Amino acid sequence: MSRIAIVAALHDELASVLALMPDEHRQTVAGRAFWVGHLHGQDVVAVLSGIGKVAAATTAALLIQHFGVQRIVFTGVAGGLGDGVNVGDVVLARCFLQHDMDASPLFPRHEVPGYDRARFEADAALTDALELACDRMLHTLPQRLGAETVAAFGLHTPRLHQGLLISGDRFVATTAESQALQRELPDALAVDMEGAAFAQVCHDFAVPLAVVRTISDRADDAAHVDFPRFLREVASRYSGAVIEALFT
Ligand code: ADE
Repeated sequence: MSRIAIVAALHDELASVLALMPDEHRQTVAGRAFWVGHLHGQDVVAVLSGIGKVAAATTAALLIQHFGVQRIVFTGVAGGLGDGVNVGDVVLARCFLQHDMDASPLFPRHEVPGYDRARFEADAALTDALELACDRMLHTLPQRLGAETVAAFGLHTPRLHQGLLISGDRFVATTAESQALQRELPDALAVDMEGAAFAQVCHDFAVPLAVVRTISDRADDAAHVDFPRFLREVASRYSGAVIEALFT
């Protein structure tokens, strides 16, 4: 039976996934807790990604080499960059780029040396399946969250966006930096700290990857306030619901 990894960025998100796994048991490798078990009958390993590109790359390599996963689904939060990519919206990554990769003038800006490319693709079939799951999750979300949370965060009509997710070892928390990223990479929908690292490792091992990110902040001067509030009150409800929808 094929084994699938569910990667969460946050403890609350992982908890909502573990709540769907009746038989999970913990294995610690390289200081990380991997939860091995089943989710709706499917062989699953659930883990926290770790924060930043290096931690994420190690986690991805362990999932593939040590735990033998054949597919990886990543769920987490991100800062919105694109026009109309608002808090509570969902971004499905179709491709990835490391915005802090810069070996110029030896290589073009953002190109990963040795790969002849700056952008890595998400797996189309797995991402299509995740798209259906996101659609289903977004339809039931208002009931799941309750009227009070919906009103507090303005989550009346969360939208699904698909396209470029950019990653770097920086929490983007100023309007100036967010605007600079938007100018440099106008098609970037959202910014995180891990997605593109997973994409590079999955490319190395030819393992299909799909990444979904809920927008927790706009990567601007208010990000440091919006981000923790969103994590506390909303984020985990999205990831549990989308993973449940993916498996049913
Ligand atoms: N993840 C969530 N918000 C983020 C931000 N503003 N920058 C980088 N990663 C994030």
